[in-house]
Amino acid sequence: MKKPAKLDIDGKEYELPTVVGTEGEKGVDVSSLRAQSQCITLDEGYANTGSCKSAITYIDGERGILRYRGIPIEELAEKSSFVETAYLLIYGELPTRAQFRDFSNSLTENENLHEDMKYHFEGFPYTAHPMAILSSMINASSCFYPGLMGTRDSQRFDVQASRLISQVRTIAAFSYRKSRGLPIIYPKPLYKYTENFLHMMFSDVYLDYELKPEVVRALDTIFILHADHEQNCSTSTVRMVASSQANLFASAAAGVCALWGPLHGGANQAVISMLEDIHESGDDGSRFIAAAKDKKSSKRLMGFGHRVYKNYDPRARIIKKVCDRLLNSLNISDPLLDIAKKMEETALNDDYFVERKLYPNVDFYSGIIMRAIGIPTEMFTVIFAIGRMPGWISNYKEVVDNPRSRIYRPRQIYVGEKERHYVPVDERTAKVKKSR
Ligand code: SDX
Repeated sequence: MKKPAKLDIDGKEYELPTVVGTEGEKGVDVSSLRAQSQCITLDEGYANTGSCKSAITYIDGERGILRYRGIPIEELAEKSSFVETAYLLIYGELPTRAQFRDFSNSLTENENLHEDMKYHFEGFPYTAHPMAILSSMINASSCFYPGLMGTRDSQRFDVQASRLISQVRTIAAFSYRKSRGLPIIYPKPLYKYTENFLHMMFSDVYLDYELKPEVVRALDTIFILHADHEQNCSTSTVRMVASSQANLFASAAAGVCALWGPLHGGANQAVISMLEDIHESGDDGSRFIAAAKDKKSSKRLMGFGHRVYKNYDPRARIIKKVCDRLLNSLNISDPLLDIAKKMEETALNDDYFVERKLYPNVDFYSGIIMRAIGIPTEMFTVIFAIGRMPGWISNYKEVVDNPRSRIYRPRQIYVGEKERHYVPVDERTAKVKKSR
């Protein structure tokens, strides 16, 4: 029996149970705190608050460890494929050969959108951001499968999961083609997951895209590395929506919207914009780093820092190797990579970053790989969303499969006006609200 935590509030002592995770992480269970003491906890940004117990992904931020269902990310990046990793995350075990075959076949059977979805693409302006298209088209596609929505039986869940994993790729490729005024390219059943995505993105009606193994492997590894990351902003959003018993497509669409932000998945696009600005300005990165350290400037070294990792993000280490290997094999020398490497070296030896334990994260080098493949910058966060889809689905499943699951509904500390009364419009005076 774990020893309870003791909390003294206004001279009264309360006991709260403690929980210990598989790897020894400790937590204080405050679910009875308000009933006992009328007090709640307050934790802006949830930096110290666990929203759930989860068996999917383990991160040790201090030691730079990341494991999916107990398997180290380094082993999965080297030995697995994105489809196999997706199965592991959703169903908890690496698939047998037969299970893998059935899962792959299900992805193939579900790779096409309903043909009427094409008309939705017509409605978007060419300038529409692909993340806006992706989130709306995920919900739009669910309208074609009303029988699937809102059900929790496992067979229907399996079809929804396959449909989402497969079609997120098709929607992404179609939105790219539409944005360039190009005819859409349909998936080919004989192609594997990542091959098919590259085919739908870059083939022409008269000429198939040449699938170079090193390019396919690099992108498949990017998908693996993005597949899950415990309770990050977008995954917590998916769990929040799932907790109201909304359907899987609605939860995934909400995850896409949360991921879009430049502090989260939008950082990979922001890193490349940052490196391009630095390159065009003739700066070698040192001027930018000085600005990123300056509290008066709003600049941040994008792709650096992490809420959990206070060590090198293990994914960034792997992506940097994939980046070097791919650019060498394609014989590409990208000045942005040289700038990024120099900035990393400078920052890792600068007290400002060292004291705050700011290291490169998953987004710092991933954009260089996507540039080398020919994926446009505005599609980078969509690539992140394709990779993260299995993680969102596995977290959705963990919420809906939990018979004790409750709707997520945090409390607050109210700091607004005390009670006051309605004033007729002719008696009102304009008040200037003091900014906080
Ligand atoms: C992802 O959560 C996940 O797991 C996310 C993710 C996933 O796989 O889902 O890993 C993917 O979102 C990676 C992060 C991508 N975002 C960026 O690269 C944007 C740049 N990074 C930062 O904005 C920031 O580091 C965050 C948002 C990632 C983390 O923010 P926190 O934990 O809220 O930290 P903070 O803003 O409180 O910063 C602490 C200090 C501050 O300085 P002081 O006030 O203490 O003096 O560090 C400074 C910050 O100013 N700081 C930075 C910085 N990041 C933090 N200063 C300059 N450049 C930066 N990048």
